[in-house]
Amino acid sequence: MSIGVFDSGIGGLTVLKEAIRQLPHENYLYYADTRHVPYGTKPKDEVKGYIYNAAEFFAGQGVEALVIACNTATSIAINDLRERYGFPIIGMEPAVKPAVEKADDRRVLVLATPITVKEKKLHDLVERLDSEQTVDLHALPGLVEYAEKFIFDENIITQYLMNEFSRYDLSRYSSVVLGCTHFVFYKRHFKMVLPQGVDVIDGNLGTVNRLKTMLGNREPAYDGNGCVTFYCSGEKDTDDGKYRRYLELEY
Ligand code: DGL
Repeated sequence: MSIGVFDSGIGGLTVLKEAIRQLPHENYLYYADTRHVPYGTKPKDEVKGYIYNAAEFFAGQGVEALVIACNTATSIAINDLRERYGFPIIGMEPAVKPAVEKADDRRVLVLATPITVKEKKLHDLVERLDSEQTVDLHALPGLVEYAEKFIFDENIITQYLMNEFSRYDLSRYSSVVLGCTHFVFYKRHFKMVLPQGVDVIDGNLGTVNRLKTMLGNREPAYDGNGCVTFYCSGEKDTDDGKYRRYLELEY
């Protein structure tokens, strides 16, 4: 049986990479909804439809577990999906908790897509953890488009980030939380524009740890390395190279 990994596009590859690192002996099905990316700037009900289609695909494949490697999809659909399907479903959670715990009187900036920033799920999380009101939320849609187009040029990306951050006094911040899996590709670009000492935190490790806990102590699927099969909006994509070049990126 395989482990399903789902995202609107290529952002979930940052989660897949961590999963392969920690659980190399498993088979994965990676589903990029390339036909409908980006999700974060579209109407919520439209995006829900795309997510339900993808979930049906995974149910048809008989996956052992499904990782929703997309904060946007997690924030609007994970509860419905868990009600509908019998297999375990693991989602993304912006790493607000570790960020607040080590903030030490400084502020925390959470970056995500417009849908995630608007959604109740993130507001409830922040409310629960942020009694001092030190957390700011900021929607950052541009990086999803850049990542999908494989644009990693330092000038373009740092200029974009500096514009987005122009209204913040970043020296008052302890960390920036990446609440979108596409943003993880840009960790080093974030570090270039943030003052020294501002941490960049993502939730990928937490998600993979939950997957590991869920698999428990069962034997790995293979003695050797497992494989990844890529699907583009439900159709098998034999052009692996397109995904592999993202998996090879350093960030
Ligand atoms: N990778 C996504 C996330 O984690 C979604 C990006 C998008 O499609 O807008 O939120």
